[in-house]
Amino acid sequence: MARLTPDNEQRARDLIALYPYPRSALIPILHVAQEQDGYLCADAMAHVGELLGLTAAEVRGTATFYDMFHTEPVGRYLVAVCTNIACMLQGAYQLLEHIEERLEIAPGGTTTDKMFTLEDAECLALCGNAPCLTVNWRFFGDVDPQRFDTLVEDLRAGRTVGLQAAGASIHGAGGPSPARPSPSPPRPAPEPGAGGVRLTTAATTGATASLDGGLRHGPGEGRA
Ligand code: FES
Repeated sequence: MARLTPDNEQRARDLIALYPYPRSALIPILHVAQEQDGYLCADAMAHVGELLGLTAAEVRGTATFYDMFHTEPVGRYLVAVCTNIACMLQGAYQLLEHIEERLEIAPGGTTTDKMFTLEDAECLALCGNAPCLTVNWRFFGDVDPQRFDTLVEDLRAGRTVGLQAAGASIHGAGGPSPARPSPSPPRPAPEPGAGGVRLTTAATTGATASLDGGLRHGPGEGRA
């Protein structure tokens, strides 16, 4: 595939100038390369190595160490389902099983229409709204099979899904959480204007922020 474009090569050089040692810019530049192609192709990684004076093995070793980097093409939407302890106790494996059947792929796979890639993720730091998942780094908490199906229908139909500032805590897509049989205490209602983010689907809010191209942003670089 492609080496870095001239614009992205300049971005890489600007990043290198921020650090005392060029190799320190490796991870930020890998984000630039992934933003360009949607994944880290061999030519782009070779170009990054040239810019930083690193071997192909050093670049690839870093790229394959971190979950946020992909060295193979992924679908338009990357669905990462947390199966760590809090989510597991709230039915994450049953949810994952449903998602596998719904998308007809196993973790690591991509749907034949290239729309979805599925990942089995470690803790996504949304334990209070377990089980949860991310789609192109956007969080969805209190997810159940029905909500996941609605999310997939929204995405396949081109309906956008986004973030909306509100509330004191992070809430699941599609409104209040369903009643749970667990002994967990009820969660406090969000207080408007108290900060934090409320995560919602377009189906319920008409939100306009798009998930498209979300893979072109690393974790923590979410766009409102
Ligand atoms: S265990 Fe799932 S988000 Fe922490």
